[in-house]
Amino acid sequence: MNQAPFVYEAEYQRIGNWLQDRCGMVFPEKKRELLINRMLSVCDRHKIPDLHTLAERLVMGNDSDLLYAVIHAASTNHTYFFREPQVLNYFQDHILPNLPAEGARIWSAAASSGDEAYTLAIIAAEKRGMKWAKNRLAILGTDISGVVIAEAEKAVYGAMHIDKMPAQILPNYFDHVGDEHYQVKAEIRQLCTFRRLNLKNHPYPFQRNFHVVFCRNVLYYFDKPQQKQIIEAIYDVTEPGGWLLTSVTVSLRGLESRWQMIDNGIYRKPF
Ligand SMILES: C[S@@+](CC[C@H](N)C(=O)[O-])C[C@H]1O[C@@H](n2cnc3c(N)ncnc32)[C@H](O)[C@@H]1O
Repeated sequence: MNQAPFVYEAEYQRIGNWLQDRCGMVFPEKKRELLINRMLSVCDRHKIPDLHTLAERLVMGNDSDLLYAVIHAASTNHTYFFREPQVLNYFQDHILPNLPAEGARIWSAAASSGDEAYTLAIIAAEKRGMKWAKNRLAILGTDISGVVIAEAEKAVYGAMHIDKMPAQILPNYFDHVGDEHYQVKAEIRQLCTFRRLNLKNHPYPFQRNFHVVFCRNVLYYFDKPQQKQIIEAIYDVTEPGGWLLTSVTVSLRGLESRWQMIDNGIYRKPF
């Protein structure tokens, strides 16, 4: 049995506190071993002798490569195309048809490797036509991890990312680039831009508000007060009548937010 959690008690506390202060990520007791193992692998990769030294360097804060490596290692970046069809179907059937003809802005607020942003672009191209999407749609994907942002920009995916897509999507929207990998076609890539952004740092620095915000499978990193701050900060960068889509498994109940709940995972800002 792995004894690491007990050996590294002080380091777990320091690194855990650093992650919470800096990124809002909360690692409860049950995720202690996971965090320690991920940090041990950062030590291996960066030739750092032990977790104590890693914690010291984090707190000193002058090695930005290391800071971002820790943030990336602490995050679960798992994502895939057409994830959680329940929310996507709502987007496709009730939100997309009513987005302004003159143009719409969508934010994928924890984009990871871009699968969600490209999924939304593909759904929009399917339902409103490639011409509307090209001329009228802008999708921004952001994530705290620069590593996944670089992957999103490359837009090359293997089976684990694409095997839950409806059958016709692969031939229509991807190019085979060899070795069982596929790249999202340029015309879909052009609808999406990606930037690094820490959701904990609000108010968010956008010049124009969004019509739809997807913030899925990330809120569970934060404790309740921070979740509330984040969804309120998202509210402030959403157009009146705009939408927030979270994971169906994350309930905003009890957060006393200004969002109006429409269904599980589906919220609207009143006009
Ligand atoms: C599990 S992925 C979710 C991807 C996609 N939204 C989905 O539902 O499939 C969670 C992402 O949240 C990002 N993340 C974690 N903390 C963050 C923060 N403070 N600010 C921005 N992104 C964060 C992680 O880097 C990771 O890529």
